[in-house]
Amino acid sequence: MRTHYCGQVTVKHLNQEVQLAGWVHRRRDHGGVIFIDLRDREGLIQIVIAPSQPDIFKLAEALRNEFVVQVKGRVRRRPEGTVNRELATGEIEIDGLELVILNRAEAIPFPIDEYHEVGEETRLRYRYLDLRRPEMLYRMKFRASITRYLRRFLDDHGFMDIETPFLTKATPEGARDYLVPSRTKQGSFFALPQSPQQFKQLLMMAGMDRYYQIVRCFRDEDLRADRQPEFTQLDIETSFLAEEEIQFYMEEMIRGMFRELLHVELPDPFPRMSYAEAMLRYGSDKPDLRISLELVDVGHLLKDVEFKVFSEPAKDSQGRVAALCIPGGATISRKEIDDYLNYVRVFGAKGLAYIKCNADGLQSPILKFIPENTVKAIMECVHAKVGDIIFFGADKASIVNDSLGALRLRIGHDRGLVENTWRPLWVVDFPMFEKSEGRLSACHHPFTAPKIKDINELIQDPHKILARAYDMVLNGSEIGGGSIRINSSELQMAVFRLLAISETAAEEKFGHLLTALKLGCPPHGGIAFGLDRLAMLMTNSASIREVIAFPKTQTATCPLTDAPASVDPAQLIELGIRIKKNADEK
Ligand code: AMO
Ligand code: AMP
Repeated sequence: MRTHYCGQVTVKHLNQEVQLAGWVHRRRDHGGVIFIDLRDREGLIQIVIAPSQPDIFKLAEALRNEFVVQVKGRVRRRPEGTVNRELATGEIEIDGLELVILNRAEAIPFPIDEYHEVGEETRLRYRYLDLRRPEMLYRMKFRASITRYLRRFLDDHGFMDIETPFLTKATPEGARDYLVPSRTKQGSFFALPQSPQQFKQLLMMAGMDRYYQIVRCFRDEDLRADRQPEFTQLDIETSFLAEEEIQFYMEEMIRGMFRELLHVELPDPFPRMSYAEAMLRYGSDKPDLRISLELVDVGHLLKDVEFKVFSEPAKDSQGRVAALCIPGGATISRKEIDDYLNYVRVFGAKGLAYIKCNADGLQSPILKFIPENTVKAIMECVHAKVGDIIFFGADKASIVNDSLGALRLRIGHDRGLVENTWRPLWVVDFPMFEKSEGRLSACHHPFTAPKIKDINELIQDPHKILARAYDMVLNGSEIGGGSIRINSSELQMAVFRLLAISETAAEEKFGHLLTALKLGCPPHGGIAFGLDRLAMLMTNSASIREVIAFPKTQTATCPLTDAPASVDPAQLIELGIRIKKNADEK
């Protein structure tokens, strides 16, 4: 139906006859001549229909936005003074010779216009229209270029693309499962995978050696701007490689991708930072290194002050008192400080003490509680100068880290302190376990190998054990996470026990893996990247939804199809499922 894409016709094609097909982006009538901006995937082109051709002129008069048409015409130079430098096709236009209306369109609910702001609910309901917009098209194309690059890199490095099941058994990655009822085994359920973790390990046990898959993962968790209930991972697993070798390949891959797609040279090698250092300096295990502000421990100076808000956490082994000095921050107003206080409250902080270093002296609600020489020591410790403000967090270490870590980012953005650059790093030496509600849970996932010489170390003091896990972090976003895996069933069972998974439960849930571990399992490890997050960062998009063709809303629904939806009662009967009525309907 066409010889060229609209956006690809140039002066090279002058005087040639071309055939185009696409959407009417705009129609303008000018002094008896009709101009049509015709749009397709590759861009816009101007078609000119002169009244000297009454047949097609009449047709052109009937055109409305988003009609689908086919045009035959001759490429000619635009007259002097009408060249549009902003358009790839801006030097030429098409002298229309034939016009066919392939399909009509009703008035569309919002204009297909780059500069038009439309509510997200509407954009998602009519996503196929939203995707016609140039910036969405750009994002979809960019995403495709990411997967094209990654596949090429991995194919060239001997990785095999292997598919793993969606209808499977639960694989824990810390979220709730999406369940699928079985018809043939009523009362039983498949779980959609939170990741292909177990299958990729089984592939190593099968001898595949290097595996990758661009794969959908399903997690029923609280959604944020960088999370979706179904999202895509670039999932990777290797045998006989140590963590440094895996990290080396992965850096090469990411560096190559930034070079090829963004013409950006990332550092070689990426810096490495331990989890402990990241928490200490940034209050986060995914530090945004573009912001130079850092948290500084001041607890050692405050153990003996009368002000209990500070002295108690300073003395508590689980507590932390940290300071965040903002250069030039003395200009931050009372109202802004109140806003910051409300902001840190969300992370559990009970207050936000501060000291302003004004030219005429210090100003602070806590000066009266702290001896002068201690204040002086704090100022020296955080290198505060006249014109700065120091914020304080004092509480359980996790609350101080979360709240001051978040405040650091917030103030960094508010005060324009975010460097315009790319700052990747590896965060390593994660703890193996974290404690929540009195129980141990895996920091990464329960298949991650501990950094130990023998199994007794693990059993004696599990809290102190580090994991052979690593995260790739870019500009404050965790873009990938992986580890070396446990490769003995004895160690795997010991970890399950520490996680309060009994022998019987482990056999029931992970019996297949425990057996495979005994039948010739190579040392292996891998990583998974969040492809949507990578695409979001690389296209500088505000949310992960902007780089997914058909995303879900924050409440995990799809406005386009209205999923999830009720089903035919007959289907439920077949599945042996009865819906409990809501209490108020009873
Ligand atoms: P993890 O759970 O860290 O590891 O996930 C790997 C990467 O996937 C991305 N990601 C998400 N992206 C969008 N929406 C979500 N809800 C979401 N959850 C995670 C993140 C993250 O870094 N099996 C292990 C990997 C391994 O050990 O090899 C795993 O899934 O960018
Ligand atoms: P208060 O004695 O509760 O009025 O607190 C005095 C100052 O300390 C106020 O500026 C509070 O915001 C601040 N503050 C109270 N609790 C904390 C805390 N846990 N961490 C940091 N600052 C706090």
